[in-house]
Amino acid sequence: MKLVVMENHEEMSKHACQLIVSKVQSLSSPVLGLATGSTPERLYEMLIEEYKQKLVSFSHVKTFNLDEYVGLSENDKNSYQYYMNHHLFSEVNFKEGENHIPNGMASQLEQECQRYEKLIKEAGGIDFQILGLGHNGHIGFNEPGTLFSSRTHVVDLERTTREANARFFKSKKEVPTQAITMGIETILESKQIILLVSGEQKATALQRLLNGEVSEDFPASVLKQHQDVTIIADKAALQLQEDEQFAVNSKR
Ligand code: GLP
Repeated sequence: MKLVVMENHEEMSKHACQLIVSKVQSLSSPVLGLATGSTPERLYEMLIEEYKQKLVSFSHVKTFNLDEYVGLSENDKNSYQYYMNHHLFSEVNFKEGENHIPNGMASQLEQECQRYEKLIKEAGGIDFQILGLGHNGHIGFNEPGTLFSSRTHVVDLERTTREANARFFKSKKEVPTQAITMGIETILESKQIILLVSGEQKATALQRLLNGEVSEDFPASVLKQHQDVTIIADKAALQLQEDEQFAVNSKR
């Protein structure tokens, strides 16, 4: 695991944007894994700016999102489909049908999970996966205790996750209780992964990731077992890391 320390959220987003743009430019048919949440919002704005300045094109790119709430339609502004349409998909030149998100409205959720896995496989796997970090160490919606061998599946969301995400909803009651998420093994099959971590509210989780053991109790810790993971973190998120120099140079 490599750690890149950035001054703030803006710089973190810029660095991630550059990595994605060069990946998209260098591969003939790149497959990107995308995340939602507050952390990548600025990154998506930057990708749109790059596209508008004709510095990058997405016409040859496929995308797979990590997760989606169960029971929210794409017209619901809290669904991740809505988020992605508004924060990225409608603003750049992806070909129709190349942006994939699990369907949280599917009547057969288990079948939907299998369909999603098959789509990823048919695309040749994910070349470059963007991840955010949950307060409890979740990646995608893989909550603590999820098996490292998990594939795309339906999850019951933890109370703390629903509380953390309640800020987007009118009330906590409205936050769905379930989601579909790519599994940990699915995520780990990505060829390259970046984990974006920003803000002091993530400091405890990041400290545990950097210093703690690999354990299913803390899903993000599994990233230490992958050969190409870069954590891009800002200084606010690293404020509990005593030896920043160690952190900067730490490899798996
Ligand atoms: C959410 C999402 C994750 C996201 C994470 C962090 O619950 N399911 O995909 O990466 O939690 O979110 P944020 O960036 O808003 O802190």
